[in-house]
Amino acid sequence: MSVELTPEAVSAALQEAVSLVQNSHDFATLKANKGLIVGESSALSQLNALIKNLPGDQKAEAGKLVGGARAQLNSAFAEKEAELEKVAAALALEAERVDITAAPKYLRSGARHPLSLLMDQIGDVFVGMGWEIADGPELENEWFNFDALNFHPDHPARAMQDTFFVSPVENHLLLRTHTSPVQVRSLLERKLPVYVLCPGRVFRTDELDATHTPVFHQVEGLAIDKGLTMADLRGTLEHFARVMFGPEAKIRLRPSFFPFTEPSAELDVWHPGAKGGARWVEWGGCGMVNPNVLLAAGIDPEVYSGFAFGMGIERTLMFRNGVSDMHDMVEADVRFSEQFGSVI
Ligand code: DAH
Repeated sequence: MSVELTPEAVSAALQEAVSLVQNSHDFATLKANKGLIVGESSALSQLNALIKNLPGDQKAEAGKLVGGARAQLNSAFAEKEAELEKVAAALALEAERVDITAAPKYLRSGARHPLSLLMDQIGDVFVGMGWEIADGPELENEWFNFDALNFHPDHPARAMQDTFFVSPVENHLLLRTHTSPVQVRSLLERKLPVYVLCPGRVFRTDELDATHTPVFHQVEGLAIDKGLTMADLRGTLEHFARVMFGPEAKIRLRPSFFPFTEPSAELDVWHPGAKGGARWVEWGGCGMVNPNVLLAAGIDPEVYSGFAFGMGIERTLMFRNGVSDMHDMVEADVRFSEQFGSVI
């Protein structure tokens, strides 16, 4: 069908396009119709294309006619586009709305084990004093676990009935029986002075019962610097005890023996919140690092000195939080962990 470029045709094409604009009731429809309304194939564009075939003296007038119609149409289109865009944005906001007062869905997410929480809390106490967290392997060399810590070759703790040796025995590998080997590892790996805390898992050939487990946790502390004395050990442990057991907590050191400390002491804590009333509780071991341990790490004991301490995490949880059976700690029943929440 051939179209003629007349004022009527232009006005009809404009009417038709404008009514297409008016009848596009949402943003998506308007977009889909864009080609028909203002695109190459639109009626007005086709009329526009006829201008070039007109005799020269008619071109200007025809151009004005079609151009005016296209300008009107463009502004009608732009107006509608802006209006529908606003509506679309409002609809999207409504659809994506979140009801912050709605009851939450209850997702059972498990619970962190109180032993992990306790180790984190202990770590925080020492990091707060500027110490670093150190770690070492659970599969350890006999040398780090015993020799470097000044255990005599005949020391009973080395006996097969206490220690899990890993076969073949000639490799001198074992599951570490305490976290103390991290003392020597830290001294070999770090620059002096050293202030490190090492929470970790240890192993002994005990049967599981109410108070024993073959796999348990300890935390080890080590400070080596110039001029450290037993007063620094006392002050550090006292602060630690107060954070863990309350401002009325105090500590007591009783003479003892460990191969890697000299002098050595048993550490008792006055536990104000103990079940059945405040009392002294055995908490761990400590002492001034034996010069032989410093020598094993290549440190001159005439220049440097320091202290170390170690205690059991399970034991601490037991008397601090009134857990009376070790089985509860190893069975991994989430109902046990949940009682402690995320802070203990
Ligand atoms: N390693 C000892 C144990 O397992 C605990 C201990 C005692 C650690 C005295 C120390 C210490 O650092 O100085 O029983």
